[in-house]
Amino acid sequence: MEVDRRAFIASLGGAAAVAMMDHEAKADALEHYMEEQLDQQAAAGQGGQPEKFPTVAEIEAQIETRPFRRGTGSVFTGSRGQNVKKIEPMPDKPTLQDFFRLRFAPANHVLQSATRAMKTGMSEEIILACLLHDCVLSLIKPDHGWWGAQLFEPYIPEKSAFAIRYHQTLRFFPDEQAGYEYPDQYYRIFGHDYVPPQYIQDTYKMLKNHKWYMEPRLVTVNDLYAFDPNAKVSIDPFEDVIGRHFKQPKEGLGYDNSSSAHMWRTLARPDSPL
Ligand SMILES: [Fe+2]
Ligand SMILES: [Fe+2]
Repeated sequence: MEVDRRAFIASLGGAAAVAMMDHEAKADALEHYMEEQLDQQAAAGQGGQPEKFPTVAEIEAQIETRPFRRGTGSVFTGSRGQNVKKIEPMPDKPTLQDFFRLRFAPANHVLQSATRAMKTGMSEEIILACLLHDCVLSLIKPDHGWWGAQLFEPYIPEKSAFAIRYHQTLRFFPDEQAGYEYPDQYYRIFGHDYVPPQYIQDTYKMLKNHKWYMEPRLVTVNDLYAFDPNAKVSIDPFEDVIGRHFKQPKEGLGYDNSSSAHMWRTLARPDSPL
């Protein structure tokens, strides 16, 4: 496909921003830009070529092209190949909202998914689960459903934790009736020939017969439609849901000696050498 050079540079924030990017970051950005263009062409019915998704082998071949691993939490690595920035210290007795502002930001995707859950009249447990479902990606990415549930479990309803833990599994399995299809994004990031590992297959089997199946399923439904780069979202509409269902510890997150307090402290102080 032909790339409009000026539009591409503008999409990255201008020539000065591009000058600061290393070669690999530029290559990544170009690939990302072309993917978006292809999506737009396809959506507009302009006869654009269908997107060619990578194979598992092609994705594996990229491992040694990066100075970090793909599973690294986002607070531990610079974006687009740049150095990390100094981060603002957390206030004393930090709350969930403080973490949203200082460690999970921009959090656009989770806010979009919770906004959709609210608009479509889902339960408050689901709205909360949508709001929190990917926040742990700031800390770690592999098995983020399990890590995420563990991070929030001491503070939220059991159903919300269940939904967070198992949305990761259900993302791999379409459910037409519920309005969830396998995401193109997964062909892109896992490879089009990817087969989820056995423990994910086993977890899916368990979930299919579980009375709470729809809890994580509804998170995946909202997940699918929460990648609009132009969406304007805020945490404000969720203050009441958080107030009713998130038990903020009086000592602050990280200092209440809960089973996940250390995870909050690591998020708070990612520059600590030990
Ligand atoms: Fe997720
Ligand atoms: Fe998500």
